[in-house]
Amino acid sequence: MIKRPKIAIVGAGGNVGAAVAQWAAQKELGELVLIDIKAGPAEGRALDLTQCGPWEGFNNTSFVATDKSEAMQDADVVVMTAGVPRKPGQSREELININAGIVKGICGDVKKYAPNCVLIVVSNPLDAMVFVAKQVTGFPRERVVGSAGVLDSARFRTYLALAAGVSVEDVQAIVLGAHTDKDMVPILSTATIGNVPVSKFLSPEKLNEVVENTKKGGATLTGLIGTSAWLAPGSGTALMVEAIVRNQGRVLPCSVELNGEFGVKGAFVGVPVKLSAKGAERIYEFELSPSEKEAFGKSVAANTELMNIARGFLG
Ligand code: 2OP
Repeated sequence: MIKRPKIAIVGAGGNVGAAVAQWAAQKELGELVLIDIKAGPAEGRALDLTQCGPWEGFNNTSFVATDKSEAMQDADVVVMTAGVPRKPGQSREELININAGIVKGICGDVKKYAPNCVLIVVSNPLDAMVFVAKQVTGFPRERVVGSAGVLDSARFRTYLALAAGVSVEDVQAIVLGAHTDKDMVPILSTATIGNVPVSKFLSPEKLNEVVENTKKGGATLTGLIGTSAWLAPGSGTALMVEAIVRNQGRVLPCSVELNGEFGVKGAFVGVPVKLSAKGAERIYEFELSPSEKEAFGKSVAANTELMNIARGFLG
């Protein structure tokens, strides 16, 4: 029998986990296993999703939903969305004391039940949680990737398209570095619209506004909604799952451990990677502008600080 990829989503009772499940179901990516610390919300999300089937045409009519970690047994991909979301006025970094312990515990289960999976971390503070996941699982770095660059880049592309009054489809732009309001690095030097540099469309002042809107993109939504966003985070993460289970070799910004790339060793930040069935099988380096290089350095320093706090939870 031909096996469909098994995708376990941990924290699926929450908004982001449920959104990953929804986009993954729409893309028919594989067998979805919804896991949450509380069985009820996992079952409820699965049932709600199942009832989309008649109109959306999903060809699986049921999803596994449980509070049992064993359900992730032999998963090909595990998506970690567990943890508390930020509240209005709160930074992602402030979540470290609660989420580090949660992520650590679940990663122990990932190591035990899905030792060959590619683990996608979505929990915040993102880059520090990727570090925790890498430490606890001991997986090679290509199999522990953080989902945030896809989200931040989607926001960057959206704000560029809105400012320039063009289709977002033709905007190519990435965000590197840490997934924090203060330290993410929207890269203007390589951003294009229809292959034309963005500077031909927007003044330096407008570009600066786009960069600032991108950096505070998550905080803006948290302020408006009252909790952190889930549709775009779920969509970006499902895109990563798709790249892995369909072995697409997409080139996407993901948070991974750097081992000398961009002149950095041992920190976890967003960089462009080739995402395939092996996970982040390759990292691509390129020349940043002097100001981007400086911002990237600050991003690495911020991550190092958070990793030092996270280390306290690993003992
Ligand atoms: C965001 O930026 C949840 O960190 C996520 O919306």
